[in-house]
Amino acid sequence: MRRPIVVGNWKMNTLLSEASQLVAKLRDNLAGVTEVEVGVCPPFVYLPAVNEALKGSNIGLGAQNVYFQEKGAFTGEVSAAMLKDVGCKYVIIGHSERRTIMAENDDIINKKLKAVLGKGLIPIFCIGETLEQRQEGITERIIRSQIDAGLDGITSDDIAKTVIAYEPVWAIGTGKNATPQQAQEVHLFIRKLIAHITSDIIARDIQIIYGGSVKAENAQDILSQSDIDGALVGGASLDAEAFTRIVQSAKR
Ligand code: 13P
Repeated sequence: MRRPIVVGNWKMNTLLSEASQLVAKLRDNLAGVTEVEVGVCPPFVYLPAVNEALKGSNIGLGAQNVYFQEKGAFTGEVSAAMLKDVGCKYVIIGHSERRTIMAENDDIINKKLKAVLGKGLIPIFCIGETLEQRQEGITERIIRSQIDAGLDGITSDDIAKTVIAYEPVWAIGTGKNATPQQAQEVHLFIRKLIAHITSDIIARDIQIIYGGSVKAENAQDILSQSDIDGALVGGASLDAEAFTRIVQSAKR
């Protein structure tokens, strides 16, 4: 049985004091929650502080990005080993903001997935179509190509450890979420693709989560879909009460 997972992607938000307050509230609010796996992904610079603040809690730490090289002359970059060293469990890879604003392509994303899996971290691998692509009717083609290219050369065992996040680009930060049915359709399609490249058992067990304007108000409808195993939450993850309600909505 797949365990639901809800992860907060704080993006480039919070100052240290705000990050600390947010984590303190989440710790309190989520203390008794064991049915849902929970993670938070603060900006790089706050990872050690947030890791310290999360000690002894049931909330996992994640990073929003990584570089695929082991170490060396890569000014400004952070390796998977460094993330592991400061307590990370998860790493978001292939977020649409990185694909578009930072020009990350499938090849870079594939290398990042391999680097993260190689260090025993859990990648949260983001895929999703743009509004134009959806309107053109090529959503499935785009999803298939992102999955095929992103997971190229990765073993079935490693794919099984990956969390896939379906984030339609048109729903991110726009207040327009996919309808539960639209999201469910794509999640089922992704699960079938995973079955095709790995096995039915891995496809049955892999966690596929939805991201894009998930709020306390719409979480229940989205998360009750059979192939939606949780959420990757942007804006609403900065509000402890809203994020807590989303986590509560993910209980099965
Ligand atoms: P919003 O929840 O702010 O739409 O962001 C979604 C997202 O990009 C999570 O990674």
